[in-house]
Amino acid sequence: MTTHWPTSALGFGGDYNPEQWPPEVWEEDVRLMTEVGVNIVTIGVFSWGALEVADGVFEWTWLDRVIDLLHRNGISVDLATPTASPPLWLHAAHPEILPVQADMTRRRPGARDGWCANSATFRRYALRITKALAERYAAHPAVVLWHVSNEIGGGNGRCHCDESLAAFRVWLRERYGSLDNLNRAWGTAFWGLYLTDWDHVPAPRGGEAHNPALMLDYDRFCSDSLLDHYRAERDVIREFAPTTPITTNFMVGPHQDIVDYPRWAEHVDVVANDHYTIPSDPLSAQDIAFSADRVRGMTPGRGPWLLMEHSVSSHAWHTVNRAKAPRELVRDSLGHIARGADGALFFQWRASLRGAEQFLQGMVSHAGTDSKIGREVRELGAVLGRLAEVRGSTVEPARVALLFDDEAGWAFSRGLKPHKGIDYGDEPRTWHRALWTRNVLVDVVAPSADLTTYDLVIVPTLFLVDDESAARVADVAQRGGVVVVTWMSGIVDHENAVRPGGYPGAFRDLLGVRSEEFYPLQPDEHGRLDSGATFHSWSELMDATDAEVVARYAEGPLAGGPAVTRRAVGSGAAYYVSCALEPASLDEFVGQVLDDAGIEPSGGGAGLDVVRREKNGTTWIFALNHGEQERRVAATGVELVTGETIDHELVVPAREVRVVRESR
Ligand code: GLA
Repeated sequence: MTTHWPTSALGFGGDYNPEQWPPEVWEEDVRLMTEVGVNIVTIGVFSWGALEVADGVFEWTWLDRVIDLLHRNGISVDLATPTASPPLWLHAAHPEILPVQADMTRRRPGARDGWCANSATFRRYALRITKALAERYAAHPAVVLWHVSNEIGGGNGRCHCDESLAAFRVWLRERYGSLDNLNRAWGTAFWGLYLTDWDHVPAPRGGEAHNPALMLDYDRFCSDSLLDHYRAERDVIREFAPTTPITTNFMVGPHQDIVDYPRWAEHVDVVANDHYTIPSDPLSAQDIAFSADRVRGMTPGRGPWLLMEHSVSSHAWHTVNRAKAPRELVRDSLGHIARGADGALFFQWRASLRGAEQFLQGMVSHAGTDSKIGREVRELGAVLGRLAEVRGSTVEPARVALLFDDEAGWAFSRGLKPHKGIDYGDEPRTWHRALWTRNVLVDVVAPSADLTTYDLVIVPTLFLVDDESAARVADVAQRGGVVVVTWMSGIVDHENAVRPGGYPGAFRDLLGVRSEEFYPLQPDEHGRLDSGATFHSWSELMDATDAEVVARYAEGPLAGGPAVTRRAVGSGAAYYVSCALEPASLDEFVGQVLDDAGIEPSGGGAGLDVVRREKNGTTWIFALNHGEQERRVAATGVELVTGETIDHELVVPAREVRVVRESR
């Protein structure tokens, strides 16, 4: 892994698509970039059709000019392989590279992501353009980072073509060795679906009620195929650029991913993420925090990582695409920086006038630079310049970990389930929100992570968990920490088989509970506990076999039965929450759990988000005020946004961000 960081200051810039503009505009672009402090741009992401104009016919002149122009002006380049968007001539010659959806319809040419990760033909063409690009530009001094494809899997995560099915069979053979093993692991005795020949292995095509073990393996296989494609392009680049970092942009948020990002993270030199706030989300600042806490949680050494894309303002893909409120642009970017990003890049530099995303704003917006966006971009560039000293610092160690896992999410969501209306990301985000509201920093990590440094570990709806990870969770309580496990956790093992003997199988002994049956609620139903707490979506018939009952069901078929329990374990404790607490009840409960774990919020709270970054004994306090009231927090030092000296108390105006370099 190459570890040097691509920029000397914090990265600032975005996707730059000069091929959409005449050369006169390039000169203006670069002038404006230097004016606002852009130091890196991503180019080439969707340029395959502009670089390979016909099969094997390359056209480099425009890219040569653009890279030289950027370099002359001191702007570095994150050069992308253009393979996310195969050209139309390639689709015309080889329509078989287009992904096939589960309903067996093949995607049509005319949009991006029209490629299957298992297509040998696609691979051949993709590696040819990658090689040509790497050969030509690897030694160019402007190129400080390589960017493979784009949001891999975003539009082509699950291909169901015959070539993919054949590759799936090979993947299964390597994993299981024999059909006997596969039959056992998948439980093919159910419905008599015994496999007697590898060539009979089905893919989860159509809308049938497929075997959940098969579906999970297909998800794993697709993630691996996409990773394999990433690695193939990366390795070609590496031959020509042995020391330049290589990455690809993840899409990490509070939702289950298309690919298993924590397992991908070791294969990139810089963990890079794209994050877009959702206009209908009333708490987008927490969405940013969750995403950043999760990206940091998967980055070796907990950072730094790069925010490769976010939006300057309105997005284009939602039903209602509202523009960002004044100050939101600056606050959103610094929200990622506070949580460990060493750069804030946007999609995109200049808003397109034509094409599918013509209503997605750019750093140069449709209105031009004399605009709200123009002013905030300029201001952000200046602020990031003043924050250059923060680069290379890491976020203070979190005392709380929240487990989030893609495999668990896939297993949770697919197949026939007791409740089909819950997204895997819902419960993790709700718990994170309760902690974020109290300004408690959380690392969102995979269950395979090292948990030995945390005082509190939250395990929300971790449907699938292997024995080793369950044991690591139990160790947290044994050594004096607090563990909270919620409903729908520990239900199945690594093979997606139910753990017998009562739920939540993998955590039953740790929690001292045994749950027998699920009582999910209808969408408009709510329930009440004797503590006054209310819940939605889920409840369980359970016994506290070796735990103290904290709250009981107050009504309905479970009235009088335990709902929330606590078991003293060694010098620690393990809680079980068998129902989906409503936000207000969850907030209150989180308060009790934090007390139990001896964790006090580190300042801020209620709309003021305070996070510290540290390097060589220096601490920077980031204070983000997401509210409409001025807020105060204890700090002494130099405030880097305004240049003021702060003596004991920092005032953070409504909607603003302040960063104090603390005096010792
Ligand atoms: C993603 C893609 C970009 C662009 C943006 C905005 O992050 O990588 O190409 O489409 O979304 O929609």
